Amino acid sequence: MAHKMTTIHKLPPGPKGLPFLGNLRELQNDRLNFLTRNRDLYGDVVHFRIGPRRIYQLNNPEYVQYVLVKHPEQFQKTPALKRAAQDSIGQGLLTSDGELHKRQRRLVQPAFHHKRIAAYADTMVGYTDDMLKGWETGEQVGILNEMMHLTMRIVGKTLFDTDVYDDADSIGAAISVGIEATADRVSRPLQLLDKLPTATNRKRKEALRVIEQTISRFIDERRASGEDKGDLMSMLLMAVDEQDGGQMTNKQVRDEAMTLFIAGHETTANALAWTFYLLGQHPEIERHLAEEIRYTLDGRLPTLGDLPKLPYLEMVIKESMRLYPPAWTTSREAQVDIELGGYTIPKGSIIMTVMYVLHHDPRFWEEPERFMPERFSAINEPNIPKYAYFPFGGGPRVCVGNQFAMMEAQLVLATILQRYQLLLVEGQTIKPLPLITLRPKPDIQMRIGERNPLIPNPHRLSSQAQSADSPHSNR
Ligand code: HEM
Repeated sequence: MAHKMTTIHKLPPGPKGLPFLGNLRELQNDRLNFLTRNRDLYGDVVHFRIGPRRIYQLNNPEYVQYVLVKHPEQFQKTPALKRAAQDSIGQGLLTSDGELHKRQRRLVQPAFHHKRIAAYADTMVGYTDDMLKGWETGEQVGILNEMMHLTMRIVGKTLFDTDVYDDADSIGAAISVGIEATADRVSRPLQLLDKLPTATNRKRKEALRVIEQTISRFIDERRASGEDKGDLMSMLLMAVDEQDGGQMTNKQVRDEAMTLFIAGHETTANALAWTFYLLGQHPEIERHLAEEIRYTLDGRLPTLGDLPKLPYLEMVIKESMRLYPPAWTTSREAQVDIELGGYTIPKGSIIMTVMYVLHHDPRFWEEPERFMPERFSAINEPNIPKYAYFPFGGGPRVCVGNQFAMMEAQLVLATILQRYQLLLVEGQTIKPLPLITLRPKPDIQMRIGERNPLIPNPHRLSSQAQSADSPHSNR
């Protein structure tokens, strides 16, 4: 007997919410547990509400691939993200859509060509080496703070040819405030509150002013010199789109520069901080890694050419980003009705693909909570299901800086670990704080231990001879 085909509008299962707020409170109180519990209780497609917004959480790697890779044209970045970004990163790569996004990506992508980023390796190592001049054995450091300073300096120099050493503290503080306030906005159901002169909004405005001043300085200095330094800033100012012959407007350059400055250091700093945390908890893995580094480098600073000889280093970073993905979730708005897993997701719904949840799913990872870099060995890595691991996203909007970030993380770690062993200060309770990025809270305190007394540390000798008011010795 022939059946008439009808579309099934079946609502996927999910947690019941309160009448107006929906599941807002649960999400805000403990995002990671709420989303993990959704996966465990309701399966691959979960429905819940934040205020009036209908959210569909996708927990199957094939569905992630559908959204990010196979049918990206059916989705856009969410209105909540765009609204929250309006006065900060505006319509930069991260937050734009459609033709504008395609054009900007064409203009920015060449700055991240592997040949070009190869030239950044010396800056990455040089600035790390410079940071170590301010470190003393026995001293305690907040490792996220150190990594934020370092990655901010690296992105400032490599992409904008400016040293932000003196401004790093104020910009760093402003970015923290900006991120907290922006995350609050993205998940808030009522837009009304955005414009009120509340304490949070005032702090956010002030934070943005500090960051924007720095970006404007980058732009003004370059415009004034008129010089083509061959870096990203010159590319942004001079780029002419091959297909439409257009150039970027001032506002576009500012949005793009702001996007790259923030996206280009916050995530990598978190990846590094979590890696040190995990290494501090696993001395046997730390030792193995230190031996690989020592065997390969034998006391000299690393170069880009050394990275293929440090496979364990890459495995450690990948595994660290599995457990603590710096970009822990990403969302889209469906532009058409979508059929997935036997459900129809109506046009206008919000889709969440949550790296953190997929990276910890026991269906794809044996002992998912365990730190095991071997998962990413040449033999094991090909067995990981596609999109069960996606720290850099995927498809046409995959992170434009992923190679930059991987190279940076490897070079920074190799430079530090060759010289020092970082030990976790006892008695700390560190939690992952999922805002826009996944930050450790509070900052992880680590004690600087000598790696090996047999390898003399030239900086310790020279730093002892330095005057006390050296800019590098006042931490
Ligand atoms: C460990 C470090 C990093 C991680 C985990 C990371 C993660 C991501 C993810 C998941 C996306 C996709 C977001 C989505 O699909 O909604 C993304 C996009 C992006 N990332 Fe990264 N990122 C990192 C480092 C960087 C660096 C170093 C830069 C620049 C120097 C950068 C610039 C960008 C930009 C501009 C986009 C938007 C791309 C587009 O939509 O076309 N990221 N990143």
